Amino acid sequence: MAVPTTLIQPSKPRRVPTAVLISGRGSNMEALLAASRDPAFPAEITLVLSNNPGAPGLASAAKQGIEAMAIDHRPFGRDREAHERALQEVLVAHGIQLVCLAGYMRVLTPWLVGRWEGRMLNIHPALLPKFPGLHTHERALEAGEGQHGCTVHLVTAGVDEGPILGQASVPVLAGDTPATLGARVLAREHELYPAMLARSAQAILDGQ
Ligand code: GRF
Repeated sequence: MAVPTTLIQPSKPRRVPTAVLISGRGSNMEALLAASRDPAFPAEITLVLSNNPGAPGLASAAKQGIEAMAIDHRPFGRDREAHERALQEVLVAHGIQLVCLAGYMRVLTPWLVGRWEGRMLNIHPALLPKFPGLHTHERALEAGEGQHGCTVHLVTAGVDEGPILGQASVPVLAGDTPATLGARVLAREHELYPAMLARSAQAILDGQ
């Protein structure tokens, strides 16, 4: 008798369990959550984590029924890795396969980065390799750039240095302030990040 192979093949997960790490406002997290509400989106945001118990994004995620948790970095003092071990425990316990940093304002140690090689994304508000680090909009204006934008990249041990997955640019307009330019960039961030997460998650589902 023929073996019913379709019945004994393990079913592949349909969506990639994904965590978003935030430290504050969480508007990129909101954009990722909105995208992941579509059941056809290849990543499912199942966890939002923060180092900051007061991060407004935590309350908003919880209100939307997403597990949202803070692991305050302060009790760990200078021991960054001990804080990251606590984060890692929660990520593993939730079966997370992809991590999106979205305004997560802690520099990660090589220990945590090494555990998520190729599986941790970050969004940076500049066209890397230009303007790594902070105050990117001020610096782009000071430098007289005609174009500015945002980058989604894989996280490596060097801050804002990992392989670039995608970028979106905006024009710098006469009379721009860091606030007006930043708002223009942020609108593009909210489109770029879900698109790049979708691509990374789909690659995992496809076994690449
Ligand atoms: C964004 O501009 C992001 O590019 C940067 O931090 C900011 C976070 O904003 N890494 P939000 O918390 O997503 O609103």
